[in-house]
Amino acid sequence: MGATADEKAAHWAIARLWLPLAHASAIAAAEGAELTAVCDVKEATARQTMERYGARAFYTDYREMLAREPLDAVAIATRTPERKAVIEECVRRGVRALFCEKPLCRTLEDADELVALLRENRVAFVYGTRRRFMPVYGRVQREIAAGRIGAVQSIVVRFGRSPLLWTHPHTVDIASFFAGDAAPESVQADLELDPAAVSAREVDADPLVRSATIRFTNGIVAHLIASESFDVEIAGTKGMVTIESDGAAVVWRTRLADGGPAFDPGHLLQHERVENTDTDSGTVESIRALLAAVRGQGASLYPPELTVRNLEILFAMVESHLGDGRRVRWPIARRGLKITGRFGSLYP
Ligand SMILES: NC(=O)c1ccc[n+]([C@@H]2O[C@H](COP(=O)([O-])OP(=O)(O)OC[C@H]3O[C@@H](n4cnc5c(N)ncnc54)[C@H](O)[C@@H]3O)[C@@H](O)[C@H]2O)c1
Repeated sequence: MGATADEKAAHWAIARLWLPLAHASAIAAAEGAELTAVCDVKEATARQTMERYGARAFYTDYREMLAREPLDAVAIATRTPERKAVIEECVRRGVRALFCEKPLCRTLEDADELVALLRENRVAFVYGTRRRFMPVYGRVQREIAAGRIGAVQSIVVRFGRSPLLWTHPHTVDIASFFAGDAAPESVQADLELDPAAVSAREVDADPLVRSATIRFTNGIVAHLIASESFDVEIAGTKGMVTIESDGAAVVWRTRLADGGPAFDPGHLLQHERVENTDTDSGTVESIRALLAAVRGQGASLYPPELTVRNLEILFAMVESHLGDGRRVRWPIARRGLKITGRFGSLYP
């Protein structure tokens, strides 16, 4: 994700919406940003990335990089186990802006500590949940705010059959985005989780999410459903909108002008399908938001508290599943549980 994700994304059917995807290529593409230094524990990777993107220096120890380089912003794309220490060192060295991959960390205790640190030090922060920075999701949100589908009632997110920590930071974030970032009230979930991976202090797996329901305090309910599609559907009192195939097209369905009764199956027949022709990727938009913050232009960033909520929702799904589908309400009390996110030998 830091340097080579574009090679993979180039083969995607909707690659044009996602490129540049890697942090380094997005920094290179964002006007006004300069990639000064890169760091990877693997020397060859660090050197290649420096050469490929025209940075001035490479390092194999992030502490040394942070000690030597006066950096306005740092983009962090290690795997999760290393992330907390890297963030803490960045803040200690006075870095004012961070772009940070998901998931933030593996316990709620760590998330609480990190968010307090970011808040106290007024660090501008952007989380790797890119969709809210992608122009298409922002456009849909603005049209909803302008009243196109009435008051939002429910959100359905179908994002493949995917693991909790690897993929669902994204679905939870997009649900929260369209729920106006309201605080969550409760969560219920059904996961695919091997009981052998569960101990008193740890879930050593990245469970697959079969379904989950998130109730927000403003009354909006989001449903995450395992399926083949990558669609987000938002239903309101006057119509609904579907963002299809992870942003490829947007379909608006609004009530017929003569306003037939809601139980008439034809009442949502006013249809508009808009193909997405955007050329700016979510990663570039994320870097632009960070740049604006560094320049003090008050960009709308990602409040660090949202990363805790995002993680709390994922942890609440596990708690609900372990409680045979019980409704888990806020506040989430157990903060020391670790979800490793392991699948095979990989961690998210
Ligand atoms: N936002 C998204 O859409 C998205 C997509 C894929 C991955 N991710 C996230 O990005 C993160 C990275 O995933 P990936 O697939 O690129 O992993 P990866 O293992 O391919 O890359 C991680 C890199 O970090 C380096 N590294 C490890 N420890 C380090 C340290 N202490 N200092 C410097 N470098 C270090 C590794 O050598 C490796 O090159 C994961 O947390 C993953 O969840 C996000």
